[in-house]
Amino acid sequence: MTDLRASAPPADGMDGGSGARQADVTLRGMQPDDVPRVAALERDLFRVSAWTPAMLAEELNAWGRWYIVAQTAQGLVVGYAGLWFDGDVSQVMTIGVDQSFQGCGIGAVLIDALIGRSRQLGAQSVFLEVAVNNDAAISLYHSRGFQQVSIRKRYYQPENLDASVMRLALDTPDTTAANSGTLKT
Ligand SMILES: CC(C)(COP(=O)(O)OP(=O)(O)OC[C@H]1O[C@@H](n2cnc3c(N)ncnc32)[C@H](O)[C@@H]1OP(=O)(O)O)[C@@H](O)C(=O)NCCC(=O)NCCS
Repeated sequence: MTDLRASAPPADGMDGGSGARQADVTLRGMQPDDVPRVAALERDLFRVSAWTPAMLAEELNAWGRWYIVAQTAQGLVVGYAGLWFDGDVSQVMTIGVDQSFQGCGIGAVLIDALIGRSRQLGAQSVFLEVAVNNDAAISLYHSRGFQQVSIRKRYYQPENLDASVMRLALDTPDTTAANSGTLKT
């Protein structure tokens, strides 16, 4: 297990006015016991599009998947993410951070871990879909070098929202935190 410290700048007003608020989280492989908590986070974050516990459990066991959680020193899971590597490219399957812990750098740590894992696996690219109105996620992906490659019309149902398909080409040297150690699932 690798201990990765989130170090993004604090979100204004989240620390009682005394200074920085940074999350101190550890990344580890997602386990079957984590499914109820992650499913609860999914419901909070994605509402009608949330994955059910059964879908999450199926994903954990599916071929080529790699799922991680971010947990606090108190053991509370506050973020999660997963990818699917098909032998050529990897696909970000999901990523989410507890609303109370957003803006603390945890999403950045999670996406960096997925990118680092993709490099370790030899993926040529990382792909993802994101709703075109999801400004926070799109900003996060842009900050990691993802570029839009296409639009999938009405990809998200029942919201009837278009998805932006984004790609990060992995033909540059690794600068992500995740590759400084080995993450074990
Ligand atoms: C997207 C998400 C995972 C980001 O997690 P987070 O922990 O809040 O993000 P971080 O604090 O690590 O921020 C990293 C970067 O993301 C971007 N970002 C995060 N929140 C943002 C916001 N509200 N507005 C604009 N940009 C934002 C910024 O580029 C930020 O870098 P900066 O702090 O240097 O400006 C989180 O907002 C979330 O869980 N959203 C709901 C679920 C979701 O939409 N998942 C993505 C599905 S494709």
